[in-house]
Amino acid sequence: MATVSLKGLTKSYGDIRAVNEVSIDVREKEFLTILGPSGCGKTTLLRMIAGLETPTGGDILIDGNSVLDVPTRERDIAMVFQTYALYNHMTAYDNIAFPLKMRKVPQQDIDLKVKEAAEMLGIKQVLDRKPGKLSGGEQQRVALGRAIVREPKVFLMDEPLTFLDPKLRTQMRVEMKTLQRRLGVTTIYVTHDQAEAMTMSDRIGMMRGGVLQQIGTPEEIYYKPVNTFVASFLGSPLINLINCKYVEQDGKAVLDAGAFKIDITDIKGAINGEKGGSEVILGVRPEDISVSRKKSASGIESEVYLTEPLGSETNLILKVGGNNVNTKVGGVSDIKAGEKVWITFDKNRLHLFKSTGESIR
Ligand SMILES: Nc1ncnc2c1ncn2[C@@H]1O[C@H](COP(=O)(O)OP(=O)(O)OP(=O)(O)O)[C@@H](O)[C@H]1O
Ligand SMILES: [Mg+2]
Repeated sequence: MATVSLKGLTKSYGDIRAVNEVSIDVREKEFLTILGPSGCGKTTLLRMIAGLETPTGGDILIDGNSVLDVPTRERDIAMVFQTYALYNHMTAYDNIAFPLKMRKVPQQDIDLKVKEAAEMLGIKQVLDRKPGKLSGGEQQRVALGRAIVREPKVFLMDEPLTFLDPKLRTQMRVEMKTLQRRLGVTTIYVTHDQAEAMTMSDRIGMMRGGVLQQIGTPEEIYYKPVNTFVASFLGSPLINLINCKYVEQDGKAVLDAGAFKIDITDIKGAINGEKGGSEVILGVRPEDISVSRKKSASGIESEVYLTEPLGSETNLILKVGGNNVNTKVGGVSDIKAGEKVWITFDKNRLHLFKSTGESIR
């Protein structure tokens, strides 16, 4: 159990700032996910915490003490990689036992710990096999076993589920979260998969171009994104971002998207500070749009362009003027492409952004 504090952590490679002044306080027993697109600096950040990369600036504190001068071995951290990094010539048992052997732990203690970890991970029956004869999921569990037996203060995980098939990924997601809760080990988990981040994390730190954009619970990040980048990284289908002009007319506050107008007088307080005539971006999540076959005064006329039945829900891609609008309805819908439908937005759930992308509401 430990806290990890990153203070203005920075890593430059020549002109590239792979990680740019990132400050995060990871709490004891927390499952913190670093989420962001490829190249945003996630691996570099983890490697600095592990001591595999030297920061160009800032500090890393574990339990309040700077570890910059502490070598990797002594940081008491276990790292699990995307590629598992198992030793192919060793059995699963020996792979898990390896870090303990290195520390010269007595054989009977090793045996106890390996078996305990294997039991926890459900891989007791494959311990005598080498990695080549294990499935991807089993290999991943062995890699986790090797991290667990060390009983480290901190787990660092770099996209450990990437190479598993989708079903196994979903299953491992649950298993890893459960395991982390049970062990209570502070964990920093890196992924570019929003579903993993949303389902596993206590908090998510969103990164872009080396810079931490926002940190918060999955709910905070989803419902109160600080900018359009964060808003569009989470959610499926994508949040709709529609360029509008904010106009004040006859005492009403209106968003004019060209193809339609929305009266936002009721929530005008939210747009405080914006002047009439300014360009804003309206953000609407697909689930905050209701779709009806009946024409209504407040409904916006749209045409169904494409339907994507997923079983539990159906995504509808609509055409509204020149805009594509993503919506979804529950279950398998009988709405067909080419049909006319009328949509209304849940006004309490609207997001508004400045034209620069920064959140207004
Ligand atoms: N050793 C290096 N020398 C030069 N540039 C590097 C080095 N390592 C990483 N970079 C650059 O730093 C940036 C961040 O890389 P990093 O591997 O941390 O990204 P990432 O978020 O882990 O991406 P991915 O999701 O693809 O794994 C990238 O622009 C990358 O090209
Ligand atoms: Mg990476």
